[in-house]
Amino acid sequence: MKYSIYLFVLILFWSCKEAPTIEQEQHSEIPEAPKIGLIADHAMVVSAREEASKIGVEILKKGGNAFDAMIATEMALAVVYPYAGNLGGGGFMVYRTQYGEIGSFDYREKAPLKAHRDMYLDEDGDYQSDRSKVGGLAVGVPGTVAGIFEVHQKLGSLPMEVILQPVIELARNGYVVTVSQAERFQQYDSIFTKVNGTQILYRNTIKKGDTVRNLQLANTLEKIALQGRYAFYEGDVGEALVSFLKKNGSIITMDDLAAYEAEWREPVVFEYDDLRIISMGPPSSGGVVLGQIMKMIEPYPLSKHGHNSAKYIQLLTEAERRAYADRSKFLGDSDFVSVPIDSLLSERYLSKRMEDFSFDAATPSEEIQPGSLQWIESTETTHYSIIDSLGNAVAATTTLNAAYGSKLYVSELGFFLNNEMDDFSAKPGEPNMFGLIGGEANAIAPQKRMLSSMTPTLVEKRDSLWMTLGTPGGSTIITSVLQTILNVHEFNMNMQQGVNVPRFHHQWLPDEIIFEPEGFPQTLIDSLQKKGYIIQAKQTPIIGKVDAILVRDDGTLEGGADPRGDDAAIGY
Ligand code: GLY
Repeated sequence: MKYSIYLFVLILFWSCKEAPTIEQEQHSEIPEAPKIGLIADHAMVVSAREEASKIGVEILKKGGNAFDAMIATEMALAVVYPYAGNLGGGGFMVYRTQYGEIGSFDYREKAPLKAHRDMYLDEDGDYQSDRSKVGGLAVGVPGTVAGIFEVHQKLGSLPMEVILQPVIELARNGYVVTVSQAERFQQYDSIFTKVNGTQILYRNTIKKGDTVRNLQLANTLEKIALQGRYAFYEGDVGEALVSFLKKNGSIITMDDLAAYEAEWREPVVFEYDDLRIISMGPPSSGGVVLGQIMKMIEPYPLSKHGHNSAKYIQLLTEAERRAYADRSKFLGDSDFVSVPIDSLLSERYLSKRMEDFSFDAATPSEEIQPGSLQWIESTETTHYSIIDSLGNAVAATTTLNAAYGSKLYVSELGFFLNNEMDDFSAKPGEPNMFGLIGGEANAIAPQKRMLSSMTPTLVEKRDSLWMTLGTPGGSTIITSVLQTILNVHEFNMNMQQGVNVPRFHHQWLPDEIIFEPEGFPQTLIDSLQKKGYIIQAKQTPIIGKVDAILVRDDGTLEGGADPRGDDAAIGY
């Protein structure tokens, strides 16, 4: 199938104060999608950029394990993919060791110590939405550097200097700008200069095929390689960062950096047919919402209904509607609020949730409220997947939130800062940049982590590793991961096809189905509209950029690198 869809991303427009907008981003024609992904006998890295996947594999070939490759890939993305790769953001990792031990890791940003619940409201109590999105006040305390050192200490094998060396060289020697990157630098130029002035490395003068050298980032990485996390959270780098932030209206101080800790978390684990899904729990909503949707649709014969058929779309939409409604009420940082994970995932609760579903007509979202549970109170992003030759597997999703985060670029250090504070619910009922509504559970508090939709996920089949996957895409992350698993499991697609095929999305509010532009015939859309479904037809976004690896029956690996981006699988 010829892909001629255009690139769009979900980010908030600079001065937009009203409801979330989908900003049209790029107009690059996407190349013909490959019919099958890269096959490798031993190991593989799939990420948003070929250079990052290559560096990950280089570390594996040097004798590093998947966790060493995770650190190298994460840092290489900070160099070649400033759109979402980062030192100034955070992320989540789900892992499975060669021995079958599973775990998850949270190196997500935190609200500063001086943050408070109403910090984005004006004196009349109105939400000043741009302040949580652009500039210093939007920045959460970054977690990425703490994250890589913690992973290294617990699971790594090679020395950090060895792992970071090729990344430092990449920053120093430069990388070649792709078509879509050049278009983005063009598109974001006015906001970059509005926020930073003209002294920013990434300007619209950079063209496709140019080589970008980021010497400041190379120096920062060198300091981090030598001094460890200390450099970033207490030393020179941290001091330069805090001084820059202060000048730009942030409330982050050295105390915030010193207090930052990444956390090992229990993953969310559930079964679907003969699969065991291992995904990210709070402060991500990803694993819980994915689990709710999959358990709600499990009783139905999906493969009989047909891939992307009207019945299939209805079923997923109705389950998504109900799960995202629950997300709005029950999900938040479990270090601060009690999240009733077991109740939300219980089969009894979920089958009750679907009792009013009928194939005859849509259930309007206004008729769906978050479920009532009885329990005792007790957007841009990037994903990469790695499997090493021993069978260790990593699914990691890392983020600045919007494209280039807050747009604040620390020239002296060579990186962008996140605008993750927008993932909090700034005011009950007010949508964030992804249109997501939140409540008390996701209210701002000092040191709290903002609710995420990031869903790095591993899947086992009959007790063995079967798939590792994830995607960027804000609120659409969960439904993209869902559809990719179903494509392979229910519809027998290979990994690359499972990633390629068009996706759709519903998130309760706004009450509409978003479709990618190709693969959904008008007759299908008409039939859904007749049943009361509201179709978002004005914009034609891409939905997600899934990077995945499948362990095939013969033990070889197949990569699924999303053709919607510059994503690449490298393996051996
Ligand atoms: N920052 C996007 C997310 O975590 O869902």
